[in-house]
Amino acid sequence: MPHIIAETATGTISFEAETGKKLVLALEDNGVDILHRCGGNARCTTCRVEVVVGDAGTMGPDEQAILSTKGDLAPNTRLSCQI
Ligand code: FES
Repeated sequence: MPHIIAETATGTISFEAETGKKLVLALEDNGVDILHRCGGNARCTTCRVEVVVGDAGTMGPDEQAILSTKGDLAPNTRLSCQI
């Protein structure tokens, strides 16, 4: 079960995420007000997060394609709907 520590606009939270659950939904279930306007389809990038520690897995082609259109993102930026 992944352990998530998230630094949010309202403070730091820590929780155990259900294995296999998308990060964006785990964050939302734990009270993080995170956008996901395209419904988790790797199109809007409103669900983006920075992965500071840990392995978020391999980036898929859809995630890579949309993030490559955003020139001002940190290299550790990922879409929480794709993790
Ligand atoms: Fe739109 Fe993740 S919800 S890119």
